[in-house]
Amino acid sequence: MGFDGMWSALTGVGTDPGGGYTREAWSGADLELREWFRQEAERRGLDLRGDRNGNLWAWWGDPDTRPGVVAGSHLDSVRQGGAYDGPLGVVSAFAAIDLLRERGVTPGVPVGVACFTEEEGARFGVPCLGSRLLTGVLEPDRARGLTDDDGDTLAEVLKRAGRDPAALGRDPETLGHIGAFVELHVEQGRALDGLGSAIGVAASIWPHGRWRLDFRGRADHAGTSRLADREDPMLPFANAVLAARTAAERAGVVATVGKVRVSPGSANAVPGHVAAWLDVRGEDERAVRDLVAEVGAGVEVACESWTPEVLFDPAIAARLSAALGDAPVIPTAAGHDAGILASAGAPTAMVFVRNPTGISHSPEEYAEPADCHAGVVALADAVKELADGLLV
Ligand code: GLV
Ligand code: MN
Ligand code: MN
Repeated sequence: MGFDGMWSALTGVGTDPGGGYTREAWSGADLELREWFRQEAERRGLDLRGDRNGNLWAWWGDPDTRPGVVAGSHLDSVRQGGAYDGPLGVVSAFAAIDLLRERGVTPGVPVGVACFTEEEGARFGVPCLGSRLLTGVLEPDRARGLTDDDGDTLAEVLKRAGRDPAALGRDPETLGHIGAFVELHVEQGRALDGLGSAIGVAASIWPHGRWRLDFRGRADHAGTSRLADREDPMLPFANAVLAARTAAERAGVVATVGKVRVSPGSANAVPGHVAAWLDVRGEDERAVRDLVAEVGAGVEVACESWTPEVLFDPAIAARLSAALGDAPVIPTAAGHDAGILASAGAPTAMVFVRNPTGISHSPEEYAEPADCHAGVVALADAVKELADGLLV
């Protein structure tokens, strides 16, 4: 099945009645997507391997004989997300293998397709969970204890999915299969559109993190409690949101509060507790950390994830850019499994596909079919280039 067939097979999986897709890790939709991955691997005679952390690998050639080139991304989404963030990279990786085969190219190294688990951190809060566990930057004990919004731990959810939570953790055997990694991704910005190019190559990822802020007060009656007597946590919360915006504008970074939990959540009660999640990103790590310190002053703050700046290997980026017709090399403020692998020392690159509006993490996320097809060609060329690089 070609790119278009694979793409349309996914359109009905995990649709959200509120719009877009909600494909959280280990949900019914995610299990359906994993089954789709298995079938696509089987259709091509690829060897499907799971790893200790729930990531999937489909190999053309045997990575136990020598490390190979892996292309891939993720199939999970944010809540009410777009179709492209993640799946475009996985579908394109299968299609790139088809294209290499059609061209009669047999790379001298194994070629794999990867699907990483819980890339968005939409369910358990830590993005790139699968690649962080794989590379050992996240402690398995911490991962097992992460909870979703229902209060279920990752360990419980894994057990229900028939998996062994004790297996989580750094996986040198799987890591040893990766000679080079390339993630194709829809661009989450408008740089390529502005440059008039369908394809780009990643230069870097901004440092970024997520912090949980807890504002505690005292629940009370919305009618009978006098304003002066209230301990209303909604007020410092609202001030923090505005302070984050003002500080971000001043510092030239971006700050977002995209998730809030108000308890008990009654329209006629002063809340007793507000939990809010602050996402901050910027070119300059110091500015990001200063903003969190400023907004979090006097508040209970817990860092849920931190990703330092990623600089993709400039020699690899330059090589791919040249192989892809002088594709522009651009930075991004979005996190990716490729960034985690690059920081762990794997030779890594990213290929971006133009997004005409730049919108992402939204049902409005889009890429033109012609650009997606150009992405498959670019990814096949990138895999070949990286495979040739591993042979020298
Ligand atoms: C992942 O898409 C992120 O940048 O949050
Ligand atoms: Mn993504
Ligand atoms: Mn995303």
